[in-house]
Amino acid sequence: MINKTLVLIIVLIAILNFVKSSDLSYKKVHLVDSVELANGNTNYFFRGNQPTQTLANGTKVFPYEELVEFLRNSSLSEFGVKLPEQFYIIDIKLITGPLPNELPDLELEKNFFATNPTLGEFHTNQTWGDIIDPQFVPQNELEEYASTISTWSADKLPQRMRDYHNILLTERELPTVLYVHW
Ligand SMILES: *[C@@H]1O[C@H](CO)[C@@H](O)[C@H](O)[C@H]1NC(C)=O
Ligand SMILES: *[C@@H]1O[C@H](CO)[C@@H](O)[C@H](O)[C@H]1NC(C)=O
Ligand SMILES: *[C@@H]1O[C@H](CO)[C@@H](O)[C@H](O)[C@H]1NC(C)=O
Repeated sequence: MINKTLVLIIVLIAILNFVKSSDLSYKKVHLVDSVELANGNTNYFFRGNQPTQTLANGTKVFPYEELVEFLRNSSLSEFGVKLPEQFYIIDIKLITGPLPNELPDLELEKNFFATNPTLGEFHTNQTWGDIIDPQFVPQNELEEYASTISTWSADKLPQRMRDYHNILLTERELPTVLYVHW
Protein backbone atom coordinates (compact mmCIF):
# COMPACT_ATOMS: atom_id res chain seq x y z
CA MET A 1 0.00 0.00 0.00
CA ILE A 2 1.28 3.44 -0.89
CA ASN A 3 1.97 5.69 2.05
CA LYS A 4 -0.14 8.75 1.25
CA THR A 5 1.79 11.06 3.54
CA LEU A 6 5.06 10.14 1.88
CA VAL A 7 3.61 10.76 -1.58
CA LEU A 8 2.27 14.12 -0.43
CA ILE A 9 5.64 15.12 0.98
CA ILE A 10 7.42 14.14 -2.25
CA VAL A 11 4.90 16.13 -4.31
CA LEU A 12 5.32 19.16 -2.01
CA ILE A 13 9.11 19.01 -2.30
CA ALA A 14 8.83 18.74 -6.08
CA ILE A 15 6.57 21.82 -6.19
CA LEU A 16 8.75 23.81 -3.80
CA ASN A 17 11.75 23.12 -5.98
CA PHE A 18 10.16 24.93 -8.91
CA VAL A 19 8.96 27.95 -6.97
CA LYS A 20 11.36 30.79 -7.70
CA SER A 21 11.85 33.24 -4.86
CA SER A 22 11.10 36.83 -5.81
CA ASP A 23 13.23 39.81 -4.80
CA LEU A 24 12.86 41.82 -1.59
CA SER A 25 9.46 43.48 -1.54
CA TYR A 26 8.60 46.52 0.60
CA LYS A 27 5.00 45.45 1.14
CA LYS A 28 6.16 42.17 2.71
CA VAL A 29 8.42 43.74 5.35
CA HIS A 30 6.62 44.19 8.69
CA LEU A 31 7.57 44.85 12.30
CA VAL A 32 6.17 42.07 14.52
CA ASP A 33 7.50 42.80 18.00
CA SER A 34 10.06 44.81 19.95
CA VAL A 35 11.63 44.51 23.39
CA GLU A 36 13.23 47.24 25.51
CA LEU A 37 16.32 46.01 27.32
CA ALA A 38 17.97 47.01 30.59
CA ASN A 39 21.06 48.32 28.72
CA GLY A 40 18.91 50.99 27.03
CA ASN A 41 18.76 49.25 23.63
CA THR A 42 15.58 48.04 21.99
CA ASN A 43 15.60 44.84 19.89
CA TYR A 44 13.17 44.41 17.00
CA PHE A 45 11.57 41.42 15.31
CA PHE A 46 10.63 41.76 11.61
CA ARG A 47 9.26 39.36 9.07
CA GLY A 48 9.75 39.81 5.35
CA ASN A 49 10.69 38.00 2.17
CA GLN A 50 13.92 36.93 0.52
CA PRO A 51 16.46 39.81 0.75
CA THR A 52 17.83 39.65 -2.78
CA GLN A 53 17.84 42.10 -5.64
CA THR A 54 18.27 41.12 -9.29
CA LEU A 55 20.37 43.63 -11.25
CA ALA A 56 19.63 44.53 -14.88
CA ASN A 57 22.25 42.03 -16.09
CA GLY A 58 20.65 39.23 -14.09
CA THR A 59 23.18 39.14 -11.24
CA LYS A 60 21.63 38.74 -7.78
CA VAL A 61 22.96 40.80 -4.88
CA PHE A 62 22.17 41.16 -1.19
CA PRO A 63 20.54 44.64 -1.06
CA TYR A 64 21.68 45.73 2.41
CA GLU A 65 20.87 49.45 1.94
CA GLU A 66 17.44 48.65 0.54
CA LEU A 67 16.66 46.21 3.37
CA VAL A 68 17.61 48.84 5.96
CA GLU A 69 15.45 51.46 4.17
CA PHE A 70 12.49 49.05 4.08
CA LEU A 71 12.89 48.19 7.78
CA ARG A 72 13.02 51.89 8.72
CA ASN A 73 10.13 53.01 6.53
CA SER A 74 7.88 50.11 7.34
CA SER A 75 8.13 50.35 11.13
CA LEU A 76 7.77 54.13 10.96
CA SER A 77 4.76 54.16 8.65
CA GLU A 78 2.93 51.18 10.19
CA PHE A 79 3.67 51.75 13.88
CA GLY A 80 5.39 55.14 14.25
CA VAL A 81 8.46 53.25 15.48
CA LYS A 82 11.76 54.93 14.62
CA LEU A 83 14.65 52.48 14.36
CA PRO A 84 18.00 53.53 15.90
CA GLU A 85 20.83 54.99 13.78
CA GLN A 86 22.76 51.74 13.91
CA PHE A 87 21.62 48.18 14.43
CA TYR A 88 22.88 44.62 14.12
CA ILE A 89 20.86 42.28 11.87
CA ILE A 90 20.26 38.64 12.76
CA ASP A 91 19.04 37.27 9.46
CA ILE A 92 17.25 33.89 9.61
CA LYS A 93 16.16 32.17 6.43
CA LEU A 94 13.45 29.52 6.78
CA ILE A 95 14.40 26.63 4.55
CA THR A 96 12.80 23.29 3.71
CA GLY A 97 16.00 21.55 2.65
CA PRO A 98 18.25 23.17 1.84
CA LEU A 99 16.82 22.27 -1.56
CA PRO A 100 18.82 22.99 -4.74
CA ASN A 101 16.67 26.07 -5.50
CA GLU A 102 17.29 27.48 -2.00
CA LEU A 103 21.07 27.22 -2.21
CA PRO A 104 21.94 30.31 -4.35
CA ASP A 105 19.96 32.69 -2.07
CA LEU A 106 21.36 30.99 1.00
CA GLU A 107 24.95 31.37 -0.29
CA LEU A 108 24.35 35.05 -1.09
CA GLU A 109 23.17 35.83 2.46
CA LYS A 110 25.86 33.69 4.07
CA ASN A 111 28.61 35.37 2.04
CA PHE A 112 27.27 38.87 2.68
CA PHE A 113 27.43 38.51 6.47
CA ALA A 114 30.69 36.56 6.35
CA THR A 115 32.18 39.56 4.49
CA ASN A 116 30.43 42.14 6.70
CA PRO A 117 30.39 40.61 10.19
CA THR A 118 29.87 43.98 11.90
CA LEU A 119 26.51 44.40 10.11
CA GLY A 120 25.04 41.14 11.34
CA GLU A 121 24.92 37.37 11.08
CA PHE A 122 23.09 34.74 9.10
CA HIS A 123 21.33 31.51 10.17
CA THR A 124 18.85 29.07 8.71
CA ASN A 125 15.88 27.35 10.36
CA GLN A 126 14.45 24.24 8.78
CA THR A 127 10.71 24.73 8.47
CA TRP A 128 8.12 22.46 6.89
CA GLY A 129 5.03 24.55 7.38
CA ASP A 130 1.63 22.88 7.55
CA ILE A 131 -1.03 22.14 4.98
CA ILE A 132 -3.72 23.21 7.44
CA ASP A 133 -4.39 26.92 6.98
CA PRO A 134 -5.70 28.36 10.29
CA GLN A 135 -7.96 30.70 8.30
CA PHE A 136 -9.99 27.69 7.19
CA VAL A 137 -10.26 26.02 10.61
CA PRO A 138 -13.61 26.64 12.32
CA GLN A 139 -13.33 29.03 15.26
CA ASN A 140 -14.42 26.38 17.80
CA GLU A 141 -11.64 24.00 16.71
CA LEU A 142 -8.80 26.54 16.67
CA GLU A 143 -8.13 26.33 20.39
CA GLU A 144 -7.98 22.52 20.23
CA TYR A 145 -5.49 22.70 17.34
CA ALA A 146 -3.41 25.33 19.13
CA SER A 147 -3.23 23.51 22.47
CA THR A 148 -2.17 20.22 20.82
CA ILE A 149 0.21 21.76 18.26
CA SER A 150 3.25 19.83 19.49
CA THR A 151 1.51 16.53 18.64
CA TRP A 152 0.71 17.35 14.99
CA SER A 153 3.10 20.06 13.76
CA ALA A 154 6.66 19.06 12.81
CA ASP A 155 8.06 22.57 13.24
CA LYS A 156 8.03 22.70 17.07
CA LEU A 157 6.61 26.22 17.00
CA PRO A 158 6.43 26.72 20.78
CA GLN A 159 10.18 26.04 20.99
CA ARG A 160 10.76 28.26 17.94
CA MET A 161 8.93 31.12 19.67
CA ARG A 162 11.16 30.68 22.73
CA ASP A 163 14.28 30.70 20.49
CA TYR A 164 13.26 33.94 18.77
CA HIS A 165 12.22 35.47 22.07
CA ASN A 166 15.66 34.65 23.51
CA ILE A 167 17.31 36.41 20.58
CA LEU A 168 15.13 39.45 21.29
CA LEU A 169 15.97 39.37 25.01
CA THR A 170 19.75 39.17 24.48
CA GLU A 171 21.67 42.39 25.20
CA ARG A 172 24.27 43.20 22.56
CA GLU A 173 26.45 46.23 22.00
CA LEU A 174 24.08 47.42 19.25
CA PRO A 175 20.29 47.19 19.10
CA THR A 176 19.33 44.03 17.16
CA VAL A 177 16.95 43.52 14.28
CA LEU A 178 15.87 39.89 13.98
CA TYR A 179 14.78 39.43 10.35
CA VAL A 180 13.00 36.12 9.65
CA HIS A 181 11.99 35.29 6.10
CA TRP A 182 11.36 32.51 3.55
C1 LIG B 1 26.35 42.81 -13.40
O1 LIG B 1 26.41 44.17 -13.00
C2 LIG B 1 27.06 44.37 -11.73
C3 LIG B 1 26.92 45.85 -11.37
O2 LIG B 1 27.17 46.69 -12.43
C4 LIG B 1 28.52 43.91 -11.84
O3 LIG B 1 29.17 44.11 -10.59
C5 LIG B 1 28.53 42.43 -12.21
O4 LIG B 1 29.86 42.00 -12.37
C6 LIG B 1 27.74 42.19 -13.48
N1 LIG B 1 27.65 40.74 -13.70
C7 LIG B 1 27.85 40.19 -14.90
C8 LIG B 1 27.69 38.71 -14.98
O5 LIG B 1 28.16 40.85 -15.87
C1 LIG C 1 11.27 55.62 2.62
O1 LIG C 1 11.14 56.93 3.15
C2 LIG C 1 11.91 57.90 2.47
C3 LIG C 1 11.79 59.21 3.24
O2 LIG C 1 10.46 59.50 3.57
C4 LIG C 1 11.42 58.00 1.03
O3 LIG C 1 12.21 58.92 0.32
C5 LIG C 1 11.52 56.61 0.36
O4 LIG C 1 10.96 56.66 -0.93
C6 LIG C 1 10.79 55.57 1.18
N1 LIG C 1 11.03 54.26 0.60
C7 LIG C 1 10.06 53.36 0.48
C8 LIG C 1 10.49 52.04 -0.11
O5 LIG C 1 8.91 53.55 0.79
C1 LIG D 1 16.92 28.58 14.41
O1 LIG D 1 18.06 29.43 14.34
C2 LIG D 1 18.49 29.92 15.60
C3 LIG D 1 19.65 30.88 15.33
O2 LIG D 1 20.71 30.19 14.74
C4 LIG D 1 18.90 28.75 16.49
O3 LIG D 1 19.24 29.23 17.76
C5 LIG D 1 17.75 27.76 16.61
O4 LIG D 1 18.18 26.61 17.30
C6 LIG D 1 17.25 27.34 15.22
N1 LIG D 1 16.09 26.48 15.35
C7 LIG D 1 15.86 25.47 14.50
C8 LIG D 1 14.63 24.66 14.77
O5 LIG D 1 16.61 25.22 13.56
